[in-house]
Amino acid sequence: MDKPIDAGLKERAAKVIPNGMYGHESTRILPDGYPQFFEKGEGAYIWDADGNRYLDFMCAYGPNLLGYRDGRVDAAAARQAALGDTLTGPAPVMVELAETLVSMVDHADWAMFCKNGTDATSMALMAARAQTGRRTILVAEGAYHGAAAWCTPLPSGTVAEDRAWQQRYRYNDIESLEAAVAAAGDDLAAIFASPFKHDVFVDQELPDPAYARRARELCDEKGAMLVIDEVRAGFRTTRDCSWSLVGVKPDLSCWGKSLGNGQPLSALLGADSCRQGAGSIYVTGSFWFAAVPMAAALETMRIIRETDYLEHMVALGDRLRAGLDAAAGEHGFRLRQSGPVQMPLIMFADDPDVRFGYAWGQEMLARGVYVHPWHNMFLCAAMTVADIDFALAAASEAFAAIAARRAEIQPSPALLAMAAAQAGQH
Ligand SMILES: Cc1ncc(COP(=O)(O)O)c(C=O)c1O
Repeated sequence: MDKPIDAGLKERAAKVIPNGMYGHESTRILPDGYPQFFEKGEGAYIWDADGNRYLDFMCAYGPNLLGYRDGRVDAAAARQAALGDTLTGPAPVMVELAETLVSMVDHADWAMFCKNGTDATSMALMAARAQTGRRTILVAEGAYHGAAAWCTPLPSGTVAEDRAWQQRYRYNDIESLEAAVAAAGDDLAAIFASPFKHDVFVDQELPDPAYARRARELCDEKGAMLVIDEVRAGFRTTRDCSWSLVGVKPDLSCWGKSLGNGQPLSALLGADSCRQGAGSIYVTGSFWFAAVPMAAALETMRIIRETDYLEHMVALGDRLRAGLDAAAGEHGFRLRQSGPVQMPLIMFADDPDVRFGYAWGQEMLARGVYVHPWHNMFLCAAMTVADIDFALAAASEAFAAIAARRAEIQPSPALLAMAAAQAGQH
């Protein structure tokens, strides 16, 4: 039998790409057998380089909100592409998109565009420091805000000074937030918060409204900026900033991933409270003003406003969560399903080294469903009830398969090594 194409690509990649792959899309931190390379996506499905099809619960780690190759978004992108993309200056669509986002996101009075989520969070950091003339930022323990030196989760290649002027607090823990604010003294520039706690390995938590309100109050008392990092969850919890659900308006919000339904675009949105600071920093990039992603984002925003994409994902997520609990129970497993149903983290109870999560992921993959054992997942609006039922049928078989070999299942050495490296950082 011929060698699988993915295996061949991995071998070739190992020679010309350090470690064969880097960052969150490296399959070295996933169960054996997860394909590294994909040849196409359509709607809710992806096909690996060997042509195997998967119902995709990772949605490109977030960008796929409406479905891969959504015809409406692709047509808008193609119309703009026929005119031009990266030009000597931005296209008119930039202004239209900024106006659109300002009209949709209640706290926002202005928008700045960039490429990746890390650009947006780094720009928030600079804008907050510029606005306040202060240095210290507060970041929740375990929260991911990107891969720049100030926030990347692994220390290699960074120096302690990259992380200077940062205090940690525990998400949803008012006392620890107050203690971190006190430690910042009169130097507090910003409090960063995720829309909800969506850290890897640990159960997700919705924001306690009292914690969110206290974060706002503390920023107001200290003259600091409140920053919500919507990069992962943007437009997946509501059509506004996520903390509108708890009645709190930030000064800044960072967006990316789903903004252009897969087209490379991110944004920093801000209130007038941070306009002067944002206007004073020098931030730019050769591709930040590309018009095609902006046209795609404009159409994505129209679909967000005019369709029930969100309610549809929530209904499917409810069906998935209930079905998985029932199927797990039938085979003697208990799951820890947390977070919004449309962005679920699915882990096994009593599985501290994630060995059952890994084994279940492999069995799901073998049945054409791509799940992640320790990172939150994403539903997309292209999924249907039939897709969820397909996933549930696969899940039931997968639970049965791992129940049958329960005693032999071992933890993954690669995962244990990664967990140790991350733990060494704190
Ligand atoms: C909450 C959050 N912030 C920031 C980022 C960084 O975004 P990007 O990978 O586009 O730089 C991510 C990426 O996963 C994220 O989930």
